[in-house]
Amino acid sequence: MYLNREEESMLRGDKGFSVKKSMEILVALGDIFSAEKLIDVGSVQVSGVSYHNLGDAGLAFLEELAKDGRVKVLTTLNPAGMDLENWRNLGISEEFAEKQNLVIKAFERMGILVSCTCTPYLIGNLPRYGEHIAWSESSAVTFANSVIGAKTNREGGPSALAAAFVGKTPYYGLHLDRNRIPDIYIQVDAKLKKLSDFGALGYIIGKKAENKIPYITGIKKADVDELKSFSASIVTYGSKPLYYIENITPGFEKHQTPKDKITVEQKDLQDAYSNINDVVSEIELVCIGCPHCSIKEIAQIAHLLINKKISPNTEFWVASSRSAKQLSDICGYTKIIEKAGAKFACDTCMAVAPLKGRFKSVATTSAKGCYYSRHNNMLTKMGSIKECVDAGVTGKWK
Ligand code: F3S
Repeated sequence: MYLNREEESMLRGDKGFSVKKSMEILVALGDIFSAEKLIDVGSVQVSGVSYHNLGDAGLAFLEELAKDGRVKVLTTLNPAGMDLENWRNLGISEEFAEKQNLVIKAFERMGILVSCTCTPYLIGNLPRYGEHIAWSESSAVTFANSVIGAKTNREGGPSALAAAFVGKTPYYGLHLDRNRIPDIYIQVDAKLKKLSDFGALGYIIGKKAENKIPYITGIKKADVDELKSFSASIVTYGSKPLYYIENITPGFEKHQTPKDKITVEQKDLQDAYSNINDVVSEIELVCIGCPHCSIKEIAQIAHLLINKKISPNTEFWVASSRSAKQLSDICGYTKIIEKAGAKFACDTCMAVAPLKGRFKSVATTSAKGCYYSRHNNMLTKMGSIKECVDAGVTGKWK
């Protein structure tokens, strides 16, 4: 990979330890993927924030980098393993909280904005169409590539951090237009009526597309929340982190219809629900907000919880960014939600919080949430926001 003089000097270590290490990572990646050069990135989103996943070795690595590593571009974080303010209320241990706080402090020293969310595009880290960025979290990467039309590979935690310290990433993969051409045609003949239908559709297309880029027709309308849910699901279950939807996402009209064609019918949607949902009626945890809730979703939850009480046998989490929660405070939604006995889980999520062994079953609006909850040995139910709120109030899935 070609390096200019400044990049060579960074690689030699003239700009300190963290920049040198970062350049080593970027050069190794560039060589593996035959990148011609490094390109500037407009922003970075870093995953690998939860102490649950990092452990002590990861924490030590971050503390080492934080000695002289400072980010060069706007950089935000993926969810951490706990709500950074309200962790006690979510049943997190003192020991875990202490370690998680050390992780966050290391990121802060690097100059990263401690907004721990997988929806950076809703809290001010919003790239423009065509902008090169280096983001990590799979749903955010898919949303950025597909809905915004920015260009990013799916970075690992270390390569995203390296891009943040250098302000550049190797020019390969989805940064190149030739790798952004759709190669499977998906005709959707099923009716999509609620948020979770987009998760179910992502499940079907993700499995059928198998590492391809879908070119999708037949979806009549979709709002941002539905597209963020679809983005999370499609990439979790198998497709590349990029798709095109006719009349909904940018760039569709620039491409020719791929020859390989798959049709999704109503029955496929029902089958997806059958596969995602387990046989369980008692619900111990309800979690809405995978990806993190927008203010619109928080408003819907608040509306449904007016004069209701969450069952004493059920814990109810509204997972969101802290910024969305602050807006919810101002709008009065937080009061309604907390009065009903539900809890905000800011800065964290159902996949990266240490939940294993705490709950046997979960209800959620998210197909991705179900995927990770099964890894946490929970039985899963997926449905609309209303179905999840009902499960929270009754403690049962109907
Ligand atoms: Fe976000 Fe966690 Fe879901 S990172 S997409 S809330 S699994």
